Amino acid sequence: MGFLKIDHVTKSFGALTVLHETNIAVEEGEFLVLVGPSGCGKSTLLNMIAGLEPTSGGDISINGRSMNGVRPADRNIAMVFQSYALYPNMNVGENISFGLEMHGVPKPERDKAIDRVADLCRSRTS
Ligand SMILES: Nc1ncnc2c1ncn2[C@@H]1O[C@H](COP(=O)(O)OP(=O)(O)OP(=O)(O)O)[C@@H](O)[C@H]1O
Ligand SMILES: [Mg+2]
Repeated sequence: MGFLKIDHVTKSFGALTVLHETNIAVEEGEFLVLVGPSGCGKSTLLNMIAGLEPTSGGDISINGRSMNGVRPADRNIAMVFQSYALYPNMNVGENISFGLEMHGVPKPERDKAIDRVADLCRSRTS
């Protein structure tokens, strides 16, 4: 059965298919380690479990409930990114916005991006 069930999940980025009908079942309390060469799709799979990346096919279910269409904030999933840069002197919103600011994105557009990401993760921005 599996508390976390990855059921025939595929993922493509354009012409590149990264995950081909992947099947994994993890029981509650079980510890799973994904090992594979760089670019084999480990982070992509984690992003899809967290709901940050849509699947191209198949289904991901948690505790018997399909996560199709379930927002990241509603999945009760925590994810720590493999490489991250957070500036401790900035609040969450400023951290989200900083890269855009450095790329010269105008403030109204940056504010929209902050709202979108904060809404996705239901986090506070101030
Ligand atoms: N947003 C994206 N757009 C296009 N291609 C992507 C995207 N995200 C990942 N890929 C590609 O998908 C493949 C899998 O990437 P992924 O980051 O999942 O690998 P990984 O197993 O986590 O690698 P690493 O061990 O280096 O962290 C790579 O070829 C990568 O270039
Ligand atoms: Mg990775």
